Amino acid sequence: MYKEKTSSQWKNLDASYHLHPFTDFQEYQSSKGRIIEKAEHIYIYDTDGKKYLDAMSGLWCCSLGYTQPAIGEAVANQFNQLPYYNNFFQCSNAPAAELAERLVKISPKQFTHVFFTNSGSEANDTNIRLIRRYWDLKKQPKKRYIIARSNAYHGSTIAAASLGGFKSVHDQFETLPYTSHIIEPNWFTEGENHSSKDFGIIAAQELEKRIDEIGEANIAAFIAEPIQGAGGVIVPPSSYWPEVQRILNERDILFVSDEVICGFGRTGSMFGCETYNTKPDLITFAKAVTNGFQPLGGVLVNDRISEVITKDGGEFGHGFTYSGHPIACAAALATLDILEKQNFVSRVANDIGPYLQSKWHELSDHEIVGHIRGAGMLGSIELVRDKITNERLEPDQKAGGICREFCIANNLVMRAVGDSMIISPPFVCSHEDIDLLIERARKSLDQTAAYYNV
Ligand SMILES: Cc1ncc(COP(=O)(O)O)c(C=O)c1O
Repeated sequence: MYKEKTSSQWKNLDASYHLHPFTDFQEYQSSKGRIIEKAEHIYIYDTDGKKYLDAMSGLWCCSLGYTQPAIGEAVANQFNQLPYYNNFFQCSNAPAAELAERLVKISPKQFTHVFFTNSGSEANDTNIRLIRRYWDLKKQPKKRYIIARSNAYHGSTIAAASLGGFKSVHDQFETLPYTSHIIEPNWFTEGENHSSKDFGIIAAQELEKRIDEIGEANIAAFIAEPIQGAGGVIVPPSSYWPEVQRILNERDILFVSDEVICGFGRTGSMFGCETYNTKPDLITFAKAVTNGFQPLGGVLVNDRISEVITKDGGEFGHGFTYSGHPIACAAALATLDILEKQNFVSRVANDIGPYLQSKWHELSDHEIVGHIRGAGMLGSIELVRDKITNERLEPDQKAGGICREFCIANNLVMRAVGDSMIISPPFVCSHEDIDLLIERARKSLDQTAAYYNV
């Protein structure tokens, strides 16, 4: 156990020794951030005693909020029964076996098997390995390229970050040479003078064009999030996914739906591919599968792939020490129990999701809100100075960070991606919680507008 310290002692300790993900290390030395010490329902508390409404569900993980003792009990029971064993060398454990069956049963009917990892990044690495193995076994070894999209986020290992579409990230290492990126379906930033519907078709047809440029014989797969999360909650135009699926139907390439954010109810269906009626071959999952309480990720594998890699593949040379960790799998089983027994997916589709969307979209009347997107329990707003021309508040998309600081001051955790303010609140929010979220968001927008003299 750690020893008690004052808030400033914690901050100094952390700033002295701890390198944080996606953080400017030097900036952190002086800002020293916030130390989160406890949480309940949808609220987190820092060591300065401040209570925040967490509109991001942690990092898109805690869909069921922070108070779910049944998950803790499942973890403790599993710890007492079998705290660890590996899944190599013809061994398994009960929670891993049961969770694999459960995930297959709740996924679209083409899915037959699961490969477990510890994170979404490792799951996307696993996808690359599975895809390559599949095409090699199908005697099509030239099929190597994976098409992804700009501003996609698929994780932080070298492979997953190569699939991702952030230039600033790519600039910091050598990306895999067999990835290729097309535009994201972001009508606000990319749509020019097209209608949303026309732009959806244009963005989808970028996939068709890229397949033809590289040659279908060289393309292994297309990977995409149903709604791009970390790129700014990019909800595609309604015409986008039907056109992408039309293209995929005509081409012999695999499709990976990265559902690390959209999975387990976030869009109002169990998986985002069901909301958009697409037919993936592989589904990446992580995060909400354990409500974020244990690290667990994995890949759902369809019949087409599992048949080939099982029948002809021999040993698959890939896996992790903690693949199918019994405690993480027990946490996932308890999470799915709550999700299913308390009908949270239908709550997102029919109650709290529509309520959030109606309240969120009311913010469109605000003078610095240029565009609003949302679906299920996801939302984003674009900050602008001029609602007609969409001129930004200042160059280099700094306004998002300013607005985020006002949110923090107003006890609201809302994330900034450039000048998009994004939310992904827990499904357990009451209508009153959503009202409070919107009240604090509006106040933060007012202060941002005043800051920029709008
Ligand atoms: C869509 C998507 N894929 C993959 C990942 C990577 O997951 P992890 O951080 O668990 O490696 C993330 C993380 O946010 C994500 O949003």
